Amino acid sequence: MDKLKITGGQTLKGEVQISGAKNAVLPILAATLLAPGISIIDNVPRLRDVNTLLQVLNAIGAKAAWSSDNQVTVDATEISNPTAPYELVKTMRASVLVLGPLLARIGQARVSLPGGCAIGARPVDQHIKGMRALGANIEILEGYIEAKAEKLTGTRFVSDMVTVTGTENLLMAAVLADGETILENAACEPEVVDLANMLNKMGAKITGIGTPRLEIQGVQQLKAVNYRTLPDRIEAGTYLVAAAATGGEVILRGIAIQLLEAVCEKLTESGAEITSGTENGVDFIKLKSSAKPQAVSIRTAPFPAFPTDMQAQFMALNCIANGAGVIVENIFENRFMHIPELIRMGAKIEFSANTATTTGGKLRGAPVMATDLRASAGLIIAALAAEGETIIDRIYHLDRGYEKIEEKLSILGAKVERIKANK
Ligand code: EPZ
Repeated sequence: MDKLKITGGQTLKGEVQISGAKNAVLPILAATLLAPGISIIDNVPRLRDVNTLLQVLNAIGAKAAWSSDNQVTVDATEISNPTAPYELVKTMRASVLVLGPLLARIGQARVSLPGGCAIGARPVDQHIKGMRALGANIEILEGYIEAKAEKLTGTRFVSDMVTVTGTENLLMAAVLADGETILENAACEPEVVDLANMLNKMGAKITGIGTPRLEIQGVQQLKAVNYRTLPDRIEAGTYLVAAAATGGEVILRGIAIQLLEAVCEKLTESGAEITSGTENGVDFIKLKSSAKPQAVSIRTAPFPAFPTDMQAQFMALNCIANGAGVIVENIFENRFMHIPELIRMGAKIEFSANTATTTGGKLRGAPVMATDLRASAGLIIAALAAEGETIIDRIYHLDRGYEKIEEKLSILGAKVERIKANK
């Protein structure tokens, strides 16, 4: 397995171009199944998860491929095999996002139940409950979701909790259902908004976009579309925290501050100076670090509150900040696996259940292991701020969600090198 070698102590300075959002591109690519014809999606980041979804789309019978560096073309005219196989779904649980489009387009789907992952059990009971509410007949057979629906029928559905991909799956099912669907307690994440905007560009009739109540008037057919996905707010937040943790100063290009206000508020509270605007039509966010960051306290929650995907990164920042901070993880039941690794680097963290208390101090480089995508980002930030050398193992987790991360960090002055696993 590849490793990353990072020598800490460098101050990050310079400019970074933010890539397209992984968590927008995945539902958007799944949504291309809703219409016959050729859809072209731009601003697609070159990530492992995107490649996995392209494999799923091709297994289903669509023709999906990269058509330039950051562009994907999907011809969804043919859907010959409405199955998302276990071998692929087990590597990327967001493959479950093909369930809604397949049911809506051809009335059947066979999708492997996504297993859990490092951060939690990640059930999809709300996806299934919602599809049944729309009239689908769903059975779980030999680890697969076997779904059938002559025609989906609009309904009012209130999800038990806010679920991002649950909202996205049900939205994609409802756009071709008979009649009106109301999704209550819907997720308001920018990636859900981006999907809804793309669906409306395909001819869907969705209102209430960006609110917890989505209203969908079903239509007969949708048309293939050209669409550019929004930038990745979590990638952006990660680089801002990395700069704050190393006393640096960075400008992020291609990202509007409205996508990560809760994160920027916490960075300001920690002592960083944040400005934003538009230059030559391109949005930017600029961060100037304080001499020494102040620890902050965080409670993760659905958008627009503080995102769980930024929790590990702030945990690392707190470990080198002044004072104590309390971090409460309210979304996933096991999203503290970066803590034992940070402790190996000298971090002072006490935690139980979903609450961690950090006390700022010094970090020293050490061999550590990545356990999940955002934990990897937290370990990178810790390594950049630590004295000495850190080797991060199992960085395949990182390759799922951060495009060209070594390149972008090196441009900012970080000493980072990928150590290829010997074949
Ligand atoms: C999406 O995951 C993101 N992934 C996650 O990003 C993100 O952390 C998460 O939303 C929360 O913002 C993608 O968009 C591909 P949820 P998702 O359904 O949709 C429970 C990353 O690092 N739940 O909003 O799977 C669930 O267990 C990834 O980029 C049910 O109980 O998350 C969790 O506790 C990690 N039943 C909570 O709801 C369900 O049917 C929120 O999960 C669905 C969810």
